Amino acid sequence: MTTPASTVPLDRNPDKFLTRTVHDLLSLKGRTIVITGAGRGLGLAFAFAVAEVGGNVAIIDLLDKPHDHFNKLQSEFNVKVKLYKSDVTSYATLEKTFGEIVTDFGRIDGLVTAAGICLDEPFLERGAESVARTMNINVLGTYYAAQLAAAQMAKQEPTDFNPRGGSIVFIASIAAHVASKGQTTSDYCASKGAVVSLAKALGVELSSIGVRVNSISPGYMLTDMTIDLCDKYPWLADIMTNEPPMRRIGDRTDLKVPVVYLLSDASAYHTSDDILITGGIHAGRLL
Ligand SMILES: NC(=O)c1ccc[n+]([C@@H]2O[C@H](COP(=O)([O-])OP(=O)(O)OC[C@H]3O[C@@H](n4cnc5c(N)ncnc54)[C@H](O)[C@@H]3O)[C@@H](O)[C@H]2O)c1
Repeated sequence: MTTPASTVPLDRNPDKFLTRTVHDLLSLKGRTIVITGAGRGLGLAFAFAVAEVGGNVAIIDLLDKPHDHFNKLQSEFNVKVKLYKSDVTSYATLEKTFGEIVTDFGRIDGLVTAAGICLDEPFLERGAESVARTMNINVLGTYYAAQLAAAQMAKQEPTDFNPRGGSIVFIASIAAHVASKGQTTSDYCASKGAVVSLAKALGVELSSIGVRVNSISPGYMLTDMTIDLCDKYPWLADIMTNEPPMRRIGDRTDLKVPVVYLLSDASAYHTSDDILITGGIHAGRLL
């Protein structure tokens, strides 16, 4: 075998894996995580997950009043928690909110984008305004938040708990991969497909500044959004319970550790991916 003229030296430290424990790798102590759409639903559960492993949480939501669980989040953890009323569809408004967050928290180490809507309207009846609203919130809201978070991550000083960059996690959906049963959500499916593609592209583009980008595609999860849907269309409760091979609707508990994993050093070599947590629907349906 001929040896190339110049080679990059291999990082030869076979003991490196012994220096950090799983507990340490999953810690978010000292870090600040911004979560959009966390006034309720999945986003609020992610805020608990972050606080439970020591991270500070800045919540962005359109709601005037968050879910009652927010009070528990504020009072039960020894971390900083603050809610910002803002709109992810307005770049100027969101830019101002991110500025306030940096002033209040000093830095941004992670972002989770959970702000999203899912309207059920047949494709042929759907108006242009309705499609635009879904795209504005689900796609552009995700894009703007990622841009603002990454810009801050790129310029901030290194610290002991985060030497460089950060981690961005988009909440996509099983709807990005397979059509929804019993629902006509063409724009939602398209919007979540865009979110999965955006995570792939940004993971590559931002790797040079140490920013990792991934998405999570949940299947049916019990939240205020799905409860509202099932109240309106009662047959959906049956689909959401019996369609997944695991024969239950997902609980927000099922997503807490995956989100912490992606935000933390535990996933330091993981980028441009989509993690499917669906009870198996992405592989096959029982109904
Ligand atoms: N619940 C599920 O089964 C499920 C499954 C897969 C993916 N998802 C996705 O997870 C995300 C969260 O869903 P959820 O079930 O928690 O819904 P939810 O309605 O309970 O929460 C969404 C939050 O986003 C906020 N929001 C909406 N528009 C906003 C805007 N313009 N600016 C700021 N905040 C805004 C809402 O006020 C709300 O608090 C969504 O993107 C959804 O598509 C949900």
